Amino acid sequence: MSTIDLKGKLIAFEGIDTSGKSTQARRLVKRLIDAGHSVVSTGEPGGTPIGNSVRSILLSREHESLLPFSELLLFIVSRAQNTHEVIVPALQEGKTVVASRYRMSSVAYQGYGRGMDLDLIQELNETAACGLHPDITFLIDIPAEVAVQRKRTEQDRIEIESMEFHRRVRQGFLELAEGDPNAIVIDGDRSPDEITEDVAQHLRARFC
Ligand code: ADP
Ligand code: TYD
Repeated sequence: MSTIDLKGKLIAFEGIDTSGKSTQARRLVKRLIDAGHSVVSTGEPGGTPIGNSVRSILLSREHESLLPFSELLLFIVSRAQNTHEVIVPALQEGKTVVASRYRMSSVAYQGYGRGMDLDLIQELNETAACGLHPDITFLIDIPAEVAVQRKRTEQDRIEIESMEFHRRVRQGFLELAEGDPNAIVIDGDRSPDEITEDVAQHLRARFC
């Protein structure tokens, strides 16, 4: 890992809920830090004080009346703050940024999942992310049926959506990854160690 030039690179993890993004992002951050890289870890919704406030609105099961349009805008608010306050400054300092979710999540969830206009989402994404795209996106892919078996006891407002919703989101992620030359689909239905190795190998292949 130490010979990889990851200075100023944005690495994103994407996938449906419980696919293993956080586990793999955490493991990658540790590996990179151990190898001497300067790394900033972030995630959405969240990553900043405003993003965290927005996160609690978005995920609270009390907010049943939240409109799909309002939901989209709140994710965009979190992204704008995270991009301006965390990601861009870190990249400018030459740090590696590891993000659990970024712009692909809004297209998959609000677009493919909720059925909102894909062009509108891309347009909002482009502004919120200041035109920034991940240098590499790892789509940790698992079937919705496997995700259900990993479900946590406390499910949030989006996790409690139907199996059909989560299937559409997964399909959306796969289509988006197919059209993105910087996206790599990783089979997430394997042991965490196998996935960690796979991610590391792809990084070496791309940036060594
Ligand atoms: P996400 O961030 O995508 O929601 P997490 O990394 O938080 O996913 O993992 C969700 C749950 O699934 C946790 O209980 C975690 O221990 C478990 N998990 C993560 N990766 C795997 C894996 N490869 N196989 C089985 N269970 C996993
Ligand atoms: P996250 O914190 O990644 O949840 P988890 O760790 O359980 O995967 O994201 C919370 C929820 O927000 C998750 O269900 C996915 C959803 N989400 C969107 O619908 N659109 C978005 O743009 C983002 C970033 C997340």
